[in-house]
Amino acid sequence: MTNFSSITSDKKYLASSLPEELDPLRIPEHIAVIMDGNGRWAKARGLTRARGHIAGVDALKTTLRLCSDWGVGALTVYAFSTENWSRPGEEVSFLMTLFQRVLKRELEALQMQKVRIKFLGDLDQLPSKLQDLINDATKLTANNTGIHFNVCTNYGGRRELVKVAKRLAERSISGDLDPSLIDENVFSAELLTANDVDPDLLIRTSGERRLSNFLLWQLAYAEIHVTETLWPDFDKDSLFQALLDYQSRRRRFGGLEQIGSANANT
Ligand code: FPP
Repeated sequence: MTNFSSITSDKKYLASSLPEELDPLRIPEHIAVIMDGNGRWAKARGLTRARGHIAGVDALKTTLRLCSDWGVGALTVYAFSTENWSRPGEEVSFLMTLFQRVLKRELEALQMQKVRIKFLGDLDQLPSKLQDLINDATKLTANNTGIHFNVCTNYGGRRELVKVAKRLAERSISGDLDPSLIDENVFSAELLTANDVDPDLLIRTSGERRLSNFLLWQLAYAEIHVTETLWPDFDKDSLFQALLDYQSRRRRFGGLEQIGSANANT
């Protein structure tokens, strides 16, 4: 029986101030994260992969709080891809149970921090208990004014794009939409992330340099920060380094001029 105690501890929370090396005016409005390396972290310690995922939840909680404290508007994480179903059944069902436990136990804290949580992906293929919890959490936090926290679960970028294409085709056939009016704005309004600006920064842990079918449209102009750090070890300093790296970039969006504001693609 797995011990979930590490994800239920309720330490007194003190807000973390932005490190002075970071420019508060150039904090990314939206950060996307591919949380990779839980399995390798566990293996290196002679632990089960499940322990790695539990440790990954702690890293996620820390990252969410820091992003919220440091003024990031939205955090979107890749928790479970459409390809992850091919993992051993035991690991898949462990992850589903973990999502349920974490959601149940963290909901009050999320609400207190004014987090607006959403799950993005094909949610109807998830266990019905998890779907119920997701619906409750989404409804409860829908009007919260704090950070937008998007958890991509049973998510695939190509699948999302195919769904948008289908939806636009259906709307065109029904007469609701003139196909000649379809442009990037009309298209992106149908994406799962429609209410958020595109991510300014993508962080991928564990040294892998792939997009892995994550937010294929939305990451078109994102700066990419790859770190060798395994996800469970991703901490305050790791986020600080990612933001320093981000702030050292000149964002051009295909043009020639340096754009001063980190949020210039909005
Ligand atoms: C990748 O590491 C990690 C995952 C597939 C799962 C990530 C999920 C969490 C951190 C829990 C999130 C919980 C909630 C409620 C949002 P890996 O297993 O691919 O590691 P490896 O590449 O080293 O094998």
